[in-house]
Amino acid sequence: MATQAIGSEATRPQIAVAMPEPERSEVVAGLGEAGFDAFSIDLDAPLAEGFRPGTEHLLAVIDVSGKAAAAAANVANARRGRPHGLSVVFVATDQDLDALQAAGIDQADELMLRPFKVDELRWRLEAMAIRAQVPTSSSSDAVLSGGGVDSGWSPAVPVFAVFNPKGGVGKTTIATNLAAVLQLRKHMNVLLVDGDTVTGHVGLSLGLPNGRSMADSWVDEDAGYGHESLLDLATLHSSGIRVVALSTNPLHQPNLVPARVADAILEARQGVDAIVIDLHPSYSEVNLAVFAIADRILVPVTPDLPAMRAAIQLKDVAVEVGVRDRLAMIINRANSGVAVADMETTVGMKAMAQIRSAGLHFVWSANAGKTLIDKFPKHPATGDFEQLADRLLSAHAGTATVDRPKESSSMLKNLFGRKAISEA
Ligand SMILES: Nc1ncnc2c1ncn2[C@@H]1O[C@H](COP(=O)(O)OP(=O)(O)O)[C@@H](O)[C@H]1O
Ligand SMILES: [Mg+2]
Repeated sequence: MATQAIGSEATRPQIAVAMPEPERSEVVAGLGEAGFDAFSIDLDAPLAEGFRPGTEHLLAVIDVSGKAAAAAANVANARRGRPHGLSVVFVATDQDLDALQAAGIDQADELMLRPFKVDELRWRLEAMAIRAQVPTSSSSDAVLSGGGVDSGWSPAVPVFAVFNPKGGVGKTTIATNLAAVLQLRKHMNVLLVDGDTVTGHVGLSLGLPNGRSMADSWVDEDAGYGHESLLDLATLHSSGIRVVALSTNPLHQPNLVPARVADAILEARQGVDAIVIDLHPSYSEVNLAVFAIADRILVPVTPDLPAMRAAIQLKDVAVEVGVRDRLAMIINRANSGVAVADMETTVGMKAMAQIRSAGLHFVWSANAGKTLIDKFPKHPATGDFEQLADRLLSAHAGTATVDRPKESSSMLKNLFGRKAISEA
């Protein structure tokens, strides 16, 4: 079965943009470049008439500017008779908030308070567009994966992304060793995805040959060859983990289509028990797409100011794209003399786990083509990784069976909360 990318005509969301110019054109163009079906509509036009029939996933961004009641009514009207719903971002100023609340906007709606950067709105919409297609445990048993329907999909397969916009903080080290500890100690089948062959290569550090990457496969697929999944492309490591790179050519990195990457990862969930992704240190569209589908975004932070500053910045971005509650800080090289509590206060995040410094053991492991977990099973840092895995799995067990809370409602609370604070 050929699985289509999220960006394919059949399933990609329509995004109606009702904003003043020049913002509107900028947003529509940006979303279009990212592969989404975005179009302009007039501020006062009936939203319901803007959408073409045939697509389940509808999103809209509506500038409220003094007309909150009319905007809310427009949305309510467009929602009538739509079983799959419509996700809306209201663009508003502080002055609109009371009227918006009075108009009774939906729990699922999001707010974008002025002032903001157009890019921030784009990221938010892209994350929503991808999320709109990501099945949740509450959705029906026939689950959409790209263009195809499959019933074997399991919500219990966690996707752990490892990210910090700063280099050298331990992303690759943590992704690789977490994958190994899940595979060897928790007896899960693990797929390790290398999303950063530019600044550090997972495959090389495991002594694996440069296999075909996802980007290589897409070139062939677009030329008419059959579809290959991440698992089809993965190389088996001696520990049992399967390793695949999104791209092995740094020049091709920008050509990765974000929605296609997200779809490939979701597709791979059918064949394994857990997926770990090592990400490139940038706020690329691909990374934002991965954030949108990840169950957890693990943020390694070393006890130094640049790493902590980068984590604070990441927190702000995560709020913007609606994934703040998925961030989990991991303190790396924890035994360096800086108190964990001080780091938590500075960054403003609780640490989920700590990994102590293992000195040259990582180097010796890499020289043997192994992870710390299989080369030095008794090292205390291996124990740290096991504890990290335990915490991640028990946190995931707590959320996998229950419906994941909507980020939008907490985001709404945050934004209203911010207003309350500024009024006090
Ligand atoms: N806990 C640790 N103890 C010792 N060395 C570490 C530890 N974490 C990372 N390193 C080393 O620091 C360097 C950078 O780590 P890496 O995982 O490549 O960071 P990133 O992927 O964030 O750029 C590597 O040489 C790695 O072996
Ligand atoms: Mg790295």
